[in-house]
Amino acid sequence: MATMNRNKVVVVGAGTVGSTVAFGLVSHGLCNEVALIDPMAERALGESHDLDDGSEFFERHVNVHVGDYADCANADIVVVTAGRRPPQGSNRLQELGFTVGIVGQIVDDIMASGFDGVLIMVSNPVDVMAWYAWKRSGLPRSQVLGTGTALDTSRLKTIIGEETGLDPRNVGGFVMGEHGDSQFVPWSTVSLGGKPFARFLSDNRDRFSSVSTDELERKTRDRGNEIKDAKGGTNYGIASTVAGIVQTILWDERRIVPVSTLLDGEYGEHDVFLGVPTELRANGANEIVELELTPYEQEKLHRSAEIVRSYCTGLL
Ligand code: LAC
Repeated sequence: MATMNRNKVVVVGAGTVGSTVAFGLVSHGLCNEVALIDPMAERALGESHDLDDGSEFFERHVNVHVGDYADCANADIVVVTAGRRPPQGSNRLQELGFTVGIVGQIVDDIMASGFDGVLIMVSNPVDVMAWYAWKRSGLPRSQVLGTGTALDTSRLKTIIGEETGLDPRNVGGFVMGEHGDSQFVPWSTVSLGGKPFARFLSDNRDRFSSVSTDELERKTRDRGNEIKDAKGGTNYGIASTVAGIVQTILWDERRIVPVSTLLDGEYGEHDVFLGVPTELRANGANEIVELELTPYEQEKLHRSAEIVRSYCTGLL
């Protein structure tokens, strides 16, 4: 992989998700340059000017501009957000037919520039799209990842925070599997205040008698769809997630984040991208943390893998 400049991010898709991602990058001052690519050049221009207009009030000046695929040649990271606003009541897997048609060409155009950085897939169904982009791009496994269950993990912590009145960052653990309906919470590995989650609840039964893990898990799984039904789509949560992933890669923070990454024997699965805790470094996705799952949790991960793999079949 080329020497990282740690200064340039390209965002493909200047719709609500892409432009909010760009805002996250600019407002946190995560890089020197953000290029926005969109087939609707006018839209990309409007968004880039609007983003730039806050420059006086940001910590750091970030050069935001309309880009084209040549911008990917020296980009450290390319974020692909292309997609449509999902129809009401649909699930993410139903977006496959639409997304795959545009993502294939986008990946080809990115690679034709000579891109050799980290490709972050956001387009849904994200686990299928990350696998497809990995296969199609020919990039090493570390250099292609999806946002995975990083957002669902943040949602779980947020919802536990809502139910307990505690700061969400007190929660340790991950949502795993598909960024979709088959995701699951491996409760045996979740902790709060350093205690196993179930133990924390039983030790504080008087305060948290109404908290149920099934309900927390359901709320986490349904949150994206509920937001979509309420406002037509999600953007802030996913954009914050992308900004966090970009930061940890550009700054080589080595945070462990449940991005969607290739399983190559880990958890007994092969040739599938799923959300699993993964060490992120400057070169992208590195070691996967293999948690000690119960047989029941392991079975849920396997079910997620089967679903995602079945949607990948026949795509190439
Ligand atoms: C969500 C979209 C990104 O869950 O799938 O918000």
